[in-house]
Amino acid sequence: MHGRVLVIAGSDSGGGAGIQADIKAITAMDAFAMTAITALTAQNTLGVQGVHPVPPAFLRLQIDSVLSDLGADAVKTGMLGDAATVGLVAEMLAPLQIPIVVDPVMVAKGGASLLADSAVAEMKRSLLPMAALLTPNLPEAEVLTGMRITDEAGMRRAGEALLSFGCAAVLMKGGHLEGPDLVDVLVTEKRVLAFRSSRIATRHTHGTGCTLASACAAGLAQGLELFTAVSRARAYVQAAIFSAPGYGAGHGPLNHAVTVDPARLAGLRS
Ligand SMILES: Nc1ncnc2c1ncn2[C@@H]1O[C@H](COP(=O)(O)OP(=O)(O)OP(=O)(O)O)[C@@H](O)[C@H]1O
Ligand SMILES: [Mg+2]
Repeated sequence: MHGRVLVIAGSDSGGGAGIQADIKAITAMDAFAMTAITALTAQNTLGVQGVHPVPPAFLRLQIDSVLSDLGADAVKTGMLGDAATVGLVAEMLAPLQIPIVVDPVMVAKGGASLLADSAVAEMKRSLLPMAALLTPNLPEAEVLTGMRITDEAGMRRAGEALLSFGCAAVLMKGGHLEGPDLVDVLVTEKRVLAFRSSRIATRHTHGTGCTLASACAAGLAQGLELFTAVSRARAYVQAAIFSAPGYGAGHGPLNHAVTVDPARLAGLRS
């Protein structure tokens, strides 16, 4: 194991997204996950039944506890909830000289709002400029840029517009477009790269975004180059969707343990 990742995000009681997905993805990448929880959610594959925010002072305490002792090689932010929390997190991360992956979570797969409208401006002002990698899905990229995105060319244009907020790289996730091919577009100042794969026909995609961003953060914590970290994270998400366990009646969780092989430890397989 190597690479320490601090995740600042919300808990998903259903275990498929949020902090739970983050810990599983980071562990599956053989890195070490630490957490500062912004909110508890009562959630399952059907939707979000309730949200219980953590008081800002206690969020601050969690981040301080982790950084003052264990330290971190990368940070990943997910659900932040409101403008005050975005501002607090940005202020606490500002002095750090490590890669920060910002997943600008706004709406859960079932439609529940996870970020107040008033927090969007604060996110653009304080958090985006410090991101080594921003990972919006298409609705989030539309809110952040005010652009309509309907195809790959639009993804590229929106990614370039997002760079102007000061982030070093943007991974535009194409999960929300239709069609048999799935493309994610990585945009940096130097280059634009399209990652292509087949869309897997499944309803088990709960937490794909959290999982992808956390796997990217693990790679960066381990010193991988950005392209390699994204490429490995995408391969992981695809394998985890393919082997999803099929739990729940709605958008089910992925198989985060696709990289884990306990039978080998037990000597059942060489
Ligand atoms: N059906 C699918 N088959 C293969 N890959 C997928 C599928 N759906 C999403 N992905 C991949 O999962 C990753 C996350 O993309 P997506 O657009 O779903 O993010 P998201 O909307 O933020 O997810 P979430 O709702 O979990 O926050 C991307 O790499 C995307 O290409
Ligand atoms: Mg998402």
